[in-house]
Amino acid sequence: MSDVFATPINATTRYCAVYGHPVKHSASPAFQNAGLAALGLNWRYLAFDVPPEQLREAILGAQRMRFIGVNLTVPHKLLAVGMVDALDESARSWGAVNTIRFEARTPSGEWKPLALFPDEVPPETRSQGFNTDAGAITRSVEENLAISLRGARALLLGAGGAGRTAALKLASDGVAELFLVNRTRSKAEDVAREIRERFPATRCTLDYPSGPVDLVLNATSLGLKAGDPLPYDSARFDLSKAGAVYDMIYRPAETPLLCAAKAAGCRAANGVGMLLYQGVKALEIWTGQPAPVAVMRAALVKNVYG
Ligand code: ATR
Repeated sequence: MSDVFATPINATTRYCAVYGHPVKHSASPAFQNAGLAALGLNWRYLAFDVPPEQLREAILGAQRMRFIGVNLTVPHKLLAVGMVDALDESARSWGAVNTIRFEARTPSGEWKPLALFPDEVPPETRSQGFNTDAGAITRSVEENLAISLRGARALLLGAGGAGRTAALKLASDGVAELFLVNRTRSKAEDVAREIRERFPATRCTLDYPSGPVDLVLNATSLGLKAGDPLPYDSARFDLSKAGAVYDMIYRPAETPLLCAAKAAGCRAANGVGMLLYQGVKALEIWTGQPAPVAVMRAALVKNVYG
């Protein structure tokens, strides 16, 4: 990647990073650095392969070195909940942390983002965990598929980490009826139980719908590998009954599910918007200002699809 920054790294440069294990395929440095450059910030966004058993030390190391913040990807998001000093409402609500902001205590006792201290950082600092994944799912679904989730009927495929968050967020955004299907039924049952407790207005059914749905959302990993089967049972559900189909997978750009959706005449979108919006929100949490979304989107698309 050619350097998008007008100024070279110097002694006042500040840092953000993504931690994952593995991390080498992450698109975050490409589109976050494009965003930082567009904002004119002398910051850089790096990527580090951090094994889970060293996550706590790696978070503290970044805090001590006055990083602005870090993003966390697989397999760190659940682990980090117990490793940060404070949890924002978003992290508490979804039970996972994908964004950490480092903060310093001002003489008046308030915690402020480190971005607000370009020179001297007060001695007392802490880490605060946020979740920007959940909001990114529904923002991307609504924007990319021109759909309103309030009152909608949705079929959700998958009840792993991403599926659970998607299910809860859809329910919290007012989906009226949610059909949950997962290879391991007990996991879908756990998610349905949580929805009934927390969002009782959403009707939750552990089966394929018999009638039409506004949205089919794939949160399984089926489609990532060449030759993967469809993530749903085509004998039990016909895609022509779906208005729109969203696949959380973004590489490949068109999974067998999205091909089938287009052939069935559904509106279809892949998960690149989710990746973009979780990063957009993270950048806004760190900087306190609106992120340059168009610049970030262009850099992300170029990085992922060439
Ligand atoms: P993530 O954090 O990305 O959600 P995960 O928690 O491992 O990852 O979840 C992967 C999802 O893909 C699960 O819903 C999983 O189904 P199980 O709960 O039964 O494991 C689903 N999945 C993975 N491989 C699958 C396969 N071969 N057939 C059907 N579902 C599959």
